[in-house]
Amino acid sequence: MGNKAPVEEKYKTRKKILVVDDYLPTRRLIIDALNQSSHYEIAEAENGMDAIGLFDKSNYDLVISDIMMPGMSGMDLLHRIREKNHSTAVIMITGNPATDLTVSAIKKGAVDFITKPFDIDDLLYKVDIHLRQREMLSGENADAILEKGRLSDQTADLSKQGYIYDSIEDSPLDNDIIFQKIAELALKLVDGEVCSILLFDEQDNEFRPKVVRGDTDGVYQNYTSNPALKIVFNEVIERKEAIIINSNEHPEVSPSLICAPLMIRNSILGILSIRKKRNREVFNKKDLHHILSLTKRASLNLENKILYESLYSNIMDTLKSLISSVEARDHYTEQHCQRVTELSVKIAIGMQCSASDIESLKIAGILHDVGKIAIPDSILLKPDVLTQEEYLIIKNHPTIGENILKPLILLDKERVIVQCHHERWDGKGYPLGISGNDIPFLARILSVADSFDAMTNDRPYRPASPVEEAVQELIKNKNTQFDPDVVDALIKII
Ligand SMILES: [Fe+2]
Repeated sequence: MGNKAPVEEKYKTRKKILVVDDYLPTRRLIIDALNQSSHYEIAEAENGMDAIGLFDKSNYDLVISDIMMPGMSGMDLLHRIREKNHSTAVIMITGNPATDLTVSAIKKGAVDFITKPFDIDDLLYKVDIHLRQREMLSGENADAILEKGRLSDQTADLSKQGYIYDSIEDSPLDNDIIFQKIAELALKLVDGEVCSILLFDEQDNEFRPKVVRGDTDGVYQNYTSNPALKIVFNEVIERKEAIIINSNEHPEVSPSLICAPLMIRNSILGILSIRKKRNREVFNKKDLHHILSLTKRASLNLENKILYESLYSNIMDTLKSLISSVEARDHYTEQHCQRVTELSVKIAIGMQCSASDIESLKIAGILHDVGKIAIPDSILLKPDVLTQEEYLIIKNHPTIGENILKPLILLDKERVIVQCHHERWDGKGYPLGISGNDIPFLARILSVADSFDAMTNDRPYRPASPVEEAVQELIKNKNTQFDPDVVDALIKII
């Protein structure tokens, strides 16, 4: 898929994390979130003493600890951990960010702190960044380097780059979700407060809000009401470059603002802007650098996806026109594929299939009889029962369909469904003669929907059966022709 950059494994080894909190619900929340990643091996302790006990037996890469705990406090625990092991990263959880405790926690060697109530994604972000930093420094004298500060900044930057890389690479196919993810990442990377992505409409020279986060005063939702902001946006569009603005230059815009273009093939797709509202903090060049890495990475990713989508829709258009030509020849099957698809999707939803399975069924349903393109009219349109020989020819259509789709790697999953839509639960189907669970599940769904639709509509050689009769037929053929669970799911829908 185009210019995809190589992605390294997130970490070299699985990371050991210890979660210490006397309050069980918080502990569970953190552990459940961490458990979503296979990169972590997690232990827990409900107090400082237990945590130290665990440390005596094993080493941990990272500790997340509450500050306020009965018995040994988080601060005492931090002190004991530092005595034992210098390279463990410790993140403290505090109820109050303003207390001296937070400052002294950092002085005593905590790498970060988060404030209650916390956003679990923020915590996961910090965990990942600190683990990456430790890993980059592993083999060297991590603590000495971290204490120097200068290199610590560099590793922090590199860790953020790695994080951007992985997060964008992992993003799903849905563009709306990608935009939301980009905005969230931007906020985390530079500690911004408001982030928006506005898409640029070249024709009417307007911006349309796509994602807006934290915009309590509606500046971005209605950006035209702020002429200064519009000037800044236009400048970004014109120069095709990111800009950083601090309050002394444009006080009416924001105390501090970064605007960066999202580019696709050298044309502007939109603008990501991020700002801080508090006067005391402004963005620096490093923040700009992070936002630029993010928008560049995101632009590349969006470009790939857009190319992929257009390729995909071209292929689908071609295949659909093949299907239309089958349907044009045989008006009995007109709309058959559409109805089979709709019914298959309903069954799949009833059976709690995943969104990606449902997408596959939508495609396979439309394409399932594409192989009939190669069946002569004399057989396809015969208003009579087929001879043995003719039936053998008709039976080739799943294999022909599979062959038509074979060169299209994008449709691998759908190809198998097309190939197997005439297999039977008892193994007496065609072309492979496979049985039971060996038949792909989505093909079993399609098979039931296909048969039901065929029965309830006119065919050249017989009139349509009433729904009731078709249902009885399906029930009769449970466990022989059809997967019984799929038949039951269809009956529930009808
Ligand atoms: Fe078929």
